[in-house]
Amino acid sequence: MIGKCLFPAAGYGTRFLPATKAMPKEMLPILNKPLIQYGVEEALQAGCHTMAIVTGRGKRSIEDHFDISYELEHQIKGTDKESYLTEIRSLIQTCTFSYTRQSQMKGLGHAILSGETLIGQEAFAVILADDLCANPMGKGVLSQMIALYETYQCSIVAIEEVDSCDVDKYGIIEGKEIQKGVYQVANMVEKPSIQEAPSNLALIGRYILTPDIFDILRHTLPGKKGEIQLTDALLTQAQAGKVLAYRFQGRRYDCGSIDGFVRATNDFYRDFHPREQ
Ligand code: G1P
Repeated sequence: MIGKCLFPAAGYGTRFLPATKAMPKEMLPILNKPLIQYGVEEALQAGCHTMAIVTGRGKRSIEDHFDISYELEHQIKGTDKESYLTEIRSLIQTCTFSYTRQSQMKGLGHAILSGETLIGQEAFAVILADDLCANPMGKGVLSQMIALYETYQCSIVAIEEVDSCDVDKYGIIEGKEIQKGVYQVANMVEKPSIQEAPSNLALIGRYILTPDIFDILRHTLPGKKGEIQLTDALLTQAQAGKVLAYRFQGRRYDCGSIDGFVRATNDFYRDFHPREQ
């Protein structure tokens, strides 16, 4: 069983400046809920009760969000505003939140390695909160991936097709389809040029990782942009036949970009916002 979900949340969110100058990008709201809360809800729905959050400087509001605000509780007690807090109160009661800091920004792989003390020696999930996923008609993306993990017991990455002109924004995989929507990964490249890209199947911010990834990351040299890349560490597992890529069901929004953020806001308003009669 996968009980823990890691959230790398130390990044600067430069694509969203100036909004993210003094505010974590994970706290940007879609409707009235911060991105990271959607991620935590997806993890909980998938059966993870421990949220391991890798933070950095200026991210204190994430910890405060997943904690009781006694002043606020006191102020709104007995008013109709209390209903706004129902969901977050229930998350705080149901989940455990633990935090560690990534003191240097050395890439996604380094962020995940920084979370090792919170995870230990067990398989775990990873959610990049700025990739917001929704599957209104069925199970969440992480639930779909955990179901696959239960059969194959290896690392699983979620993928989707992207336009060829966008391959340089993502980790790109090459693999053989072994069942509908499931690929045995043979190769993966972080942010390749169109010419180098082995396909247009891109990694999105959902992973299931087996714990040997930590040792591999410890020995992974800086790659693209001089950073320690998770994609490079996963390639080591893939070469041993231990990575599957899963074409998930649902929609994914890149909420680290203004276009994706606006699209998510419009779709969530249409699909999830209760209309006032
Ligand atoms: C990271 C990963 C990349 C992946 C992407 C998904 O990149 O390094 O492989 O495709 O997340 O969102 P980032 O967007 O943090 O640059």
